[in-house]
Amino acid sequence: MNMNLITQIYKFLRLSILDIPYDRLLKFILDMLTTDQNSSVKRRGGIYIFQNNRLKLSTHNGLGKEILHKCSEVELGHCLCGKAAQICRVQILEHRERNHLHLYVPIIFKSRVYGLINLYLPNGYRYSTKEEQFLKLASVWIGEILKRKLDEEKLKEAHIETRLILDSVGSIIIGLNRENRVRIWNRGAEKVLGISQSEIIGRKIDECDILWDLEKIRAGISECRIKRTPIRLDELDFKRPDGSRGFLGITVNPISSNKMNVIIYGADITERKNLELQLAHTQKLESIGQLAAGIAHELNTPTQYIGDNIRFLNDAFRDLTSLIEYIMKFLNRGETETAPLPIDEIEKRMEQLDMRFLLKEIPKAIEQSLEGIDRISQIIHSIKEFSHPGSKERASVDINRCIQNAITISKNEWKYVAELTTDLKPDLPPINGYPQELNHVFLNIIINAAHAIKERLKRNKEEIKGRIHIKTDASEGFVEIRISDNGIGIPKSIQKRIFDPFFTTKEVGKGSGQGLAITHRIVVKKHNGSIFFETEEGKGTTFIIRLPINNLSSGEGEYEKGQDIICG
Ligand SMILES: Nc1ncnc2c1ncn2[C@@H]1O[C@H](COP(=O)(O)OP(=O)(O)OP(=O)(O)O)[C@@H](O)[C@H]1O
Ligand SMILES: [Mg+2]
Repeated sequence: MNMNLITQIYKFLRLSILDIPYDRLLKFILDMLTTDQNSSVKRRGGIYIFQNNRLKLSTHNGLGKEILHKCSEVELGHCLCGKAAQICRVQILEHRERNHLHLYVPIIFKSRVYGLINLYLPNGYRYSTKEEQFLKLASVWIGEILKRKLDEEKLKEAHIETRLILDSVGSIIIGLNRENRVRIWNRGAEKVLGISQSEIIGRKIDECDILWDLEKIRAGISECRIKRTPIRLDELDFKRPDGSRGFLGITVNPISSNKMNVIIYGADITERKNLELQLAHTQKLESIGQLAAGIAHELNTPTQYIGDNIRFLNDAFRDLTSLIEYIMKFLNRGETETAPLPIDEIEKRMEQLDMRFLLKEIPKAIEQSLEGIDRISQIIHSIKEFSHPGSKERASVDINRCIQNAITISKNEWKYVAELTTDLKPDLPPINGYPQELNHVFLNIIINAAHAIKERLKRNKEEIKGRIHIKTDASEGFVEIRISDNGIGIPKSIQKRIFDPFFTTKEVGKGSGQGLAITHRIVVKKHNGSIFFETEEGKGTTFIIRLPINNLSSGEGEYEKGQDIICG
C-alpha cells in the first residue's frame, strides 16, 4: 500500500478527536483507507460492525447494488467476510469467481472483534510486511476510536435523557461543586427563581443575586457539607419572579461525585403554606365559634351585674340628689333669713334613705362595675388577639400572656368541670415566635383537658370538679409549659395517633381531630420546639411543650409523631 506511516498515524489521531457522529466517523475511516493517493487499493470497500451476533454493513464505498443486497448482513463463519471475521487477523482472501482479492482488517477492541473492514484489491496483490504491520495497528486503533465514539454517544444520549428528566421535574434541582459553582440548574429552578440556565451555570451560587434568604442557604449548604446529611430548610423566604413574596421548601443533599458535592432540591411552597395558614385560621375561628356561646355567657355575667350596679347607683344618686337639694335650699338662703338648719328633718330624711347603707354600697358598686368592665375588656382583648389572622413576622412573645388569653377565652368550657390553677413564672423570658399561633396551641390543649375531665366525670358519675394546672418555667434556652389534667388519660392504643390530622375519639360535632395536628405543626415546625405527653389511663395527662427562646430559624426540626411519649 506504500503508505506513509506518520501521515496515517496523524490522520488516526485526528480522527480520534473529531467531533462528528459515529456514522460519519465510520465513513471517514473507510475513505482514509480507500482514497490514499499512493495506495493501490481500489476505491471500493465497506465496514461491517457486529450487531446481535451478525456483521452488518454500516458504510461502504463504491459497492454495487447486487453486493449491497446480498452482503448487507453476514453471519459469522459464512461467506468470505464471515469467515475472515472468525479468523480475526489481517489477511487477503481471493474471490475466485469475481477475479479480485479482499483485504480484511478486523476491528479489534480489547482483544474482541468489534467489526471488519473489507477492501477490494486487484488480483495478484501482495502487501509488504510494513503494510501488514500498519494494518494490524490500524485494526486496534480503529477499534479504540469507534468504541470510544460509541461510548461518547451513549454518554451524550444519557446526558440528554438526564437533562430531559431534570427538566421535566417541576421541582427545583440545583447541583453545586465544591466551590459553590452551579453545575446543574434545571427548568424548575429557572421557572421558580426566574434565572435562566445560561445566566447561572458556572457561577458561584452566592454571587448570583438570587432573591432568597442567602444566609440560610449558605448555612444549610455548609451544615450539609460538614455533617454529610440532608438539611431541610423549610419556609425559606424568597422573591418570586413576579415580585411577590414566597416560600421555598428546600433540602440540601450531600452527594459524592467528582464534579458536584451538593444537590439542592425543593419547590415553591407558597400556595401550600397559604392553605395551611388558612386551615389553621379556619380551625382557630371554628374553635372560637364553638366557644362563642360560652364567651357570650362570660360577657353576660359582668354585663348583668354592671347593669344592676348602675341601676342601683342611679336610684342612689336620685335619692342623694333630693337630700342635697333640700340641704342646698337652706345653704343658699339670703342673709336676712336666720332660722337654723332643720337638722332633725335632715337626719330623718337621711334615715329614710338608709344613708349608711348607701355610703357602704356605692363604692362597692362602683368598684364591682369597674372590675366587670375590666373583665369584659379582657375577654374582648383576648378574642381580638385570637381572631386576628396572625402576622407572618416573628415577634417577641409573652407566653404567660398567651396562656392567660387562652384561659379567658375557654373559661366557659372548663369552669363547670374543673378548677384551673396556674403557676406562671413571673419573669419568664419572651420567646421569638408567632403569638397568635401560640394562643391557639394553649387553647387547644386546655379545651382537650376540659373535655377529658368532663368525660371522666361522666363515666364515673362524679360530681367533684377535676383539676387543670398550668405551669411555665424557663431553662437552658427554652421555655417549658406543662398543662396537666386529671381527666380520662390517653389509652395506649391511640397514643401514637393523637397528633395525626383528623384523628378524634369525640363524637361528631364535638371534635374534628385537627387540634393536636395543628398544635404539633405550630410547635415543631414553626417554632423548632417539641411537644410530648405523659399520661396514665384513668388518671390524667400532662402535655409538655418546649419552645426555644432564641429560635431564629423557621426550619423544620422534623419531629417523629408519637416520639418521646412517656407513659406513667
Ligand atoms: N388531655 C387529653 N386527655 C385525653 N385524651 C386526649 C387529650 N388530649 C387529646 N386527647 C385525645 O386526642 C384526640 C385528638 O385530639 P385533637 O385535639 O387533635 O382533636 P379533638 O379534640 O378530638 O378535636 P378538635 O379538632 O376539636 O380539637 C382526642 O380526640 C382525644 O382522644
Ligand atoms: Mg382538641
